[in-house]
Amino acid sequence: MPQDSGSSTRREFAREALKSLTAVVLIEGLWSRRLLGDDVRPIVDDWFRELNAISRDVHEHRVKDVEFQKSLEQLYRRGDLASLLKTIDFDRLAAGANFPAKGARSLPVDFSHVKGLPVQAAFGRQVFAMGKGRSVVPHGHDNMATGFIVLKGNFRGRHYDRVEDHPHHYLIRPTIDRKFEPGEFSTISDHKDNIHWFTAEGDAGFLFNIHVVETNPENPRRPGRVYVDPMGEKLAGGLIKAPKITFGKVNQLYG
Ligand SMILES: [Fe+2]
Repeated sequence: MPQDSGSSTRREFAREALKSLTAVVLIEGLWSRRLLGDDVRPIVDDWFRELNAISRDVHEHRVKDVEFQKSLEQLYRRGDLASLLKTIDFDRLAAGANFPAKGARSLPVDFSHVKGLPVQAAFGRQVFAMGKGRSVVPHGHDNMATGFIVLKGNFRGRHYDRVEDHPHHYLIRPTIDRKFEPGEFSTISDHKDNIHWFTAEGDAGFLFNIHVVETNPENPRRPGRVYVDPMGEKLAGGLIKAPKITFGKVNQLYG
């Protein structure tokens, strides 16, 4: 390769990346800076290195999922990341986004063309995009730990502890119900705040999501989502009898 191939490689990367909506998030935000700015690169490198380390630790059961939640929240809390996220051109993204009539669109985030990031990352990541009033519908997870951080928009975020599983319902307890602004975040695991529900209250909203699977050695279930109606019968002790429902039903009710 010729010595001066760096800029043309970057241009080529940008051209390729812009072909997909999800990559617009990257090329216009963190990752364009990562490629173009030496000042920012160490921040992003460190962030992903640490994210991968804590994800591997929980995935390989060296740390508890609730400890992973704390570590992920520390990473999300870093002001440098929040300020970088704010550089993303969401107006342009929103203009090109094909928001679903109900619910949120999950956009996979592909870092495979970016140098320096682990090829076999221990974490998965995606962006959720939704129109005004639409939601990431109420759901919990089995054998997973995940975290949302608000990229753009104002959300109402609700969490519930999943206290007991029954054949046709869960017993759940509300734990969080508040506004979330850009840069604010929350996390879930089998043991804490397992069910979450985010509604875009202003204009279009974007959430960034990190998830790690197989985080609870005591849970024999395969990692995945479970759908729930949190507006069920109120019981003593602040508990709610929340029916298990299908994705189609929860999307119809709350999407
Ligand atoms: Fe989730």
